[in-house]
Amino acid sequence: MTLMAELFVTTKMKKPMKEVKKVAIHHRHGSFSDIWIEYFLENNIPYVLVNCYDSDIIDRLEGCAGLMWHWDLNDYQAPLMARQLTYSLQQKGVKVYPDFFTSWHYDDKVGQKYLLEAIKAPLVKSYVFFSKNKALQWAETATFPKVFKLRNGASSSNVLLAENREVAKSLIRKAFGKGFAPWNSVRRLDRSISVLKQEKDLVALKRVLAGTVRLAVPKENENLLTREKGYAYFQDFLPGNTFDIRTVVIGDRCFGAKRFCRPGDFRASGSGIFTYNPQCIGEDIVRISFEVAEKLQTQSVAYDFIYDQGEPRIVEISYCFALECCDDTPGYWDKNLYWHEGKMNLQKCIAEDFLQSLHIGKPLAPTKVII
Ligand SMILES: Nc1ncnc2c1ncn2[C@@H]1O[C@H](COP(=O)(O)OP(=O)(O)O)[C@@H](O)[C@H]1O
Ligand SMILES: [Mg+2]
Repeated sequence: MTLMAELFVTTKMKKPMKEVKKVAIHHRHGSFSDIWIEYFLENNIPYVLVNCYDSDIIDRLEGCAGLMWHWDLNDYQAPLMARQLTYSLQQKGVKVYPDFFTSWHYDDKVGQKYLLEAIKAPLVKSYVFFSKNKALQWAETATFPKVFKLRNGASSSNVLLAENREVAKSLIRKAFGKGFAPWNSVRRLDRSISVLKQEKDLVALKRVLAGTVRLAVPKENENLLTREKGYAYFQDFLPGNTFDIRTVVIGDRCFGAKRFCRPGDFRASGSGIFTYNPQCIGEDIVRISFEVAEKLQTQSVAYDFIYDQGEPRIVEISYCFALECCDDTPGYWDKNLYWHEGKMNLQKCIAEDFLQSLHIGKPLAPTKVII
């Protein structure tokens, strides 16, 4: 037998081993990965745990079908490299969650302003300035109150009311002067107290105690965050909103919650007071949520809506969301706006859709490799 023929027979006889596709998960306790891992185990889907902060992470992901990483503003390192890593992987042909369209505007309200304007989404009228003089000139003729926001932050911690021209001007001077700390310990404690008033449980009490300690001893990570400065971002203040509507679109499912403002406050985000009653969510909001998600080409998106004289307006978007909100939802709307009753887990929906995009649906033997 010639060498060629021998090779042919050997190849024909030996059935090539079916390659098991592995999905890499970056695990962070308290993040979506807790639930993703649960989902993978329940469905016998092989996965590997990786640390995206490893310098050789690209090599380590060799052979993986995809990467799932719930990075967020609680990781001070993430803004330094999460987008850079995941977009590089996408360029290499590795599927990632969250991908480029899903995540580039995360925790960047200024980026969201351009994006939502570009796709003609109903964003609350917003203004951004990169020069102190231009911002001050605008403040001379603008009407007040306006809402002043840092581009990042959550739970209303970086959202303030500029009641009048003088307040707006002093915020502008600060924005182009020493700037703002991205985490405000006083406002965070304020939020924890508000949640404790509602929840009255041990977890809420612990948060208040921890918040009190944090006033004197900031977290190590917080000292590594850079101050926000060099821009000023305002929105028209839409009065009369005693709540906001949070919707989350994942694939062809839309979840919703109504979040009430703290007593005597215009801000709902982070109040900890909400209801999942689907009757509280307007059909117009569900429809807009789907329409905008389609234009954004996003794997997941959470919206905050308020009303402008009966018309829904978006105040911000985010690819991820607090586990406490929408996690116990009684059902969802589909794209035909048909309500499906039944408890769903949003993080499992994300995992399910991601696996489908990788054509991994059929359960395989459980494999867990730590690399
Ligand atoms: N332009 C606005 N007019 C009136 N209320 C607003 C406006 N923007 C935000 N809010 C209120 O403030 C809350 C926090 O604002 P948001 O932009 O969502 O910041 P965060 O990222 O902290 O959640 C919202 O949940 C909403 O209740
Ligand atoms: Mg919000």
